[in-house]
Amino acid sequence: MAEHGRVVEASGVVKRYGAFEAVRGVDFHIEAGECFGLLGPNGAGKTTTVKLLCCVLPLTAGEIRVFGMSAAEHPRRVKARIGVCPQEFNLDPDFGVRQNLMVFSRYFDIPKAEAARRADALIARFRLEDKAGACVDDLSGGLKRRLMVARTLINDPDLIVLDEPTAGLDPQSKHQIWDEVRALKASGKTVVLTTHNMEEAELLCDRLVIVDLGRIIESGTPAAIVGRHAPADGGGTLEGVFLKLTGRQLRE
Ligand SMILES: Nc1ncnc2c1ncn2[C@@H]1O[C@H](COP(=O)(O)OP(=O)(O)OP(=O)(O)O)[C@@H](O)[C@H]1O
Ligand SMILES: [Mg+2]
Repeated sequence: MAEHGRVVEASGVVKRYGAFEAVRGVDFHIEAGECFGLLGPNGAGKTTTVKLLCCVLPLTAGEIRVFGMSAAEHPRRVKARIGVCPQEFNLDPDFGVRQNLMVFSRYFDIPKAEAARRADALIARFRLEDKAGACVDDLSGGLKRRLMVARTLINDPDLIVLDEPTAGLDPQSKHQIWDEVRALKASGKTVVLTTHNMEEAELLCDRLVIVDLGRIIESGTPAAIVGRHAPADGGGTLEGVFLKLTGRQLRE
């Protein structure tokens, strides 16, 4: 069922790791059915923000509401409606491709017959048929990423969170993931995407925020952000604006 209104509302969100403040008071919202982007240099706090949203990490301060529910108070109910593709590979090396999907389905209490049906559908959708029985350690990086994205959908989530889903992919695999994001949106799902690929952000994101040093420094549609900061001759690019706003100094 398509959602209406705001799927995510984050206000005053702070995350400290010990004394280090990785997220320093961010406010944003995500509308139902949009693709919302998180851009920012390495270490900006994107993955931390994503983990807070998905109830993987506890907040230090502030509030995140997902589908109207507090992430802090109802983590299980929130998690049931989210699919997460983490930045780091975390497939289970002890299991094959299809088995990884089956094992993951247990977190959502999906009955075995239904899980098997979904696993087979995802294997077909992500063109993993030839590798269904393969050990995940024997997959290329691109195939591992495809399996990770496929796994994200096992619980038929309404909100799909993809943390750098196309990093390291060849153009074919990258375009397949882009098509998948478009298909998810077309079916009424909401997508959160972190990326360093400015073309990807411009093509897929309806709105995005640029994060730096734990703070949101700009937000809006890609066109609006470029329009605000690019030279008046109209020759601006999102990458140019990104560098202008975040500087050229190397991060961690
Ligand atoms: N578990 C942790 N303990 C301590 N510091 C952490 C931890 N996880 C992340 N950090 C720090 O928090 C900051 C934000 O990290 P985060 O992973 O959210 O950045 P990011 O924007 O996702 O970066 P990247 O683009 O490289 O993935 C960084 O300075 C990082 O070193
Ligand atoms: Mg990250």
